[in-house]
Amino acid sequence: NEIKIFSPATVANVACGFDVLGFCLDNVGDDMVIRKVDKKGIKITHIEGFDLPYEAEQNVAGVSALAMYDTLDIDFGFEIEIYKNIKPGSGIGSSAASAVGSVFGMNELLGRPFNKTQLTEFAIKGEALASKCEHADNLAPAMFGGFTLVKGIKPLQILEIPSPDDLFATIIHPQIEIKTSESRAVLPKEVSLSDAIAQWSNVGSLIHALHTSDYNLIKDSLHDVIIEPHRSKLIPHYEEVKNSMLNAGALGACISGSGPSIFSLCKGEETAKKVAGAIKNVYNSTGIDFDIHVSKIN
Ligand code: HSE
Repeated sequence: NEIKIFSPATVANVACGFDVLGFCLDNVGDDMVIRKVDKKGIKITHIEGFDLPYEAEQNVAGVSALAMYDTLDIDFGFEIEIYKNIKPGSGIGSSAASAVGSVFGMNELLGRPFNKTQLTEFAIKGEALASKCEHADNLAPAMFGGFTLVKGIKPLQILEIPSPDDLFATIIHPQIEIKTSESRAVLPKEVSLSDAIAQWSNVGSLIHALHTSDYNLIKDSLHDVIIEPHRSKLIPHYEEVKNSMLNAGALGACISGSGPSIFSLCKGEETAKKVAGAIKNVYNSTGIDFDIHVSKIN
């Protein structure tokens, strides 16, 4: 009657793929407990880690749970416990982890009436509460794992993209908060044709590189000419961190989701750990608290 789940952190955009590409981290995330109870409705009974609303309608996990619950004809309800490790506003999919966790857990307790794409549809409602717009580039990898591409929202279409065996991510999470809604507000409404060409060329080649395990092509494709120039200004020591990642051997580096986290992709765990050491050196002198994660991409 109850299930404990791990709901993973995710990196959205992956440089060139704004609002469509994302990948899942294998060792950073929230824990949640979902319980079937006699009383009808959705009730959040426990939140640990961060100060978040208990009213289901105001809570990301609650909103996605309600979106699913409202489609069901059942005479019982669910309780949700949230043990949050991912700081809200961190750029590694905090709201997506909450939104995905509740509906995934409920679906398991119900005997899996919904597939993962349908569950993601419900989770979009929760994500929209946090970021004020409907996007699924964190939700999709949290739900499916690995690398994903959101082909479209209406109708929702999610593609699972393979990735090379030895691909690792190193992520630094400075302990400052940037709200997704704020970092979307700094973006231009229109882009030039030459920037658009560069961007879709990189998305296409990154997908090809992931399919063919071509690390050099991954390196050549991890660029963002549209979003990074605007958002990087919001992130302290961005250029320094990015350069230290590249100098330590990362294939590429960019803003994780809407920031302030910065991710890099690396070939092999040894390089990923070397990159972690290099950014630690940069950030140690800044006075800003930070976490660093090294994660294999499965
Ligand atoms: N694609 C989204 C953005 C991810 O960059 O705004 C953050 O939730």
